[in-house]
Amino acid sequence: MTRERLAVVSGGGTGIGRAIAARLAGDGYRVAILGRRAAVLEEAGAAIERGAGPGAVVPVAGDLADPAAVEQVAARIAELGPVDVLVNNAGAIITPPQDGSLAALAASWRRDLDTNLLTAVLLTTALQGALRRPGGRLVVISSAAAQRGGAGPHSAGSYAAAKAALHGWAFGLARQLGPDGITVNVLAPGYVVDTEIFGADWSEEFHARKVADTLVGRAGTPADVAEAVAYIASPAAGYLTGQVIGLNGGAVLGR
Ligand SMILES: NC(=O)c1ccc[n+]([C@@H]2O[C@H](COP(=O)([O-])OP(=O)(O)OC[C@H]3O[C@@H](n4cnc5c(N)ncnc54)[C@H](OP(=O)(O)O)[C@@H]3O)[C@@H](O)[C@H]2O)c1
Repeated sequence: MTRERLAVVSGGGTGIGRAIAARLAGDGYRVAILGRRAAVLEEAGAAIERGAGPGAVVPVAGDLADPAAVEQVAARIAELGPVDVLVNNAGAIITPPQDGSLAALAASWRRDLDTNLLTAVLLTTALQGALRRPGGRLVVISSAAAQRGGAGPHSAGSYAAAKAALHGWAFGLARQLGPDGITVNVLAPGYVVDTEIFGADWSEEFHARKVADTLVGRAGTPADVAEAVAYIASPAAGYLTGQVIGLNGGAVLGR
């Protein structure tokens, strides 16, 4: 298969990003998957290609919070051609500091902003000139935490704040890039299982509480998110821009 369209998925080696990459590869895109761990990307790429066929995936390793690394990643992507779809999915929940010091709190917030906000800002800025005009699609993966607040044992609120900051940034980009025929949308998932994000903080009790929050009585899956991204990325979604789209089983209503 000749793959003429290019998609870039940050955090494409695991969880939600991997499902998005697999879905877009299945839809005929050549997909560059990004993340810090080269071995994870290689393994994911091989697995996706077993389903989608050879040449579907290009793993590109680098820390997207590091400007110099992002320049290298963007240079590699530029060799692949214009970017039809950019999915800013990389992110993580940073464990809040326990010692109560403001210095530790500041370091933790900066790490959260680096991981969840700067990764998207740097990558998008580096690739902005390479986005297909017209027809490019920019998707930003936020979180229901941005809409409902996220303070608690798993977050000092910095995760919710970093994700919410993506929204205002994305609205400005939508205004800026709309005249070029590029759409910009934010997808805000609720609780999604089968990812690495909760790590050791995951428990049956946590899971039950999250499922109980939904109206449909189940957790989201990476495939749920991939399906929504596939629509937003499609030519059919050309009139959808500048939106925050909740995907949360009804855990957050109407925002
Ligand atoms: N799971 C949920 O319930 C949920 C709900 C709402 C929103 N989200 C959001 O969905 C996105 C994907 O999360 P997930 O649940 O699929 O978790 P995940 O499996 O931990 O995926 C996060 C990905 O981001 C990559 N990443 C993190 N920091 C990076 C950096 N500095 N540079 C490059 N890549 C980086 C990680 O790869 P490396 O570690 O190899 O770099 C990993 O592949 C995140 O933005 C998350 O906030 C998740």
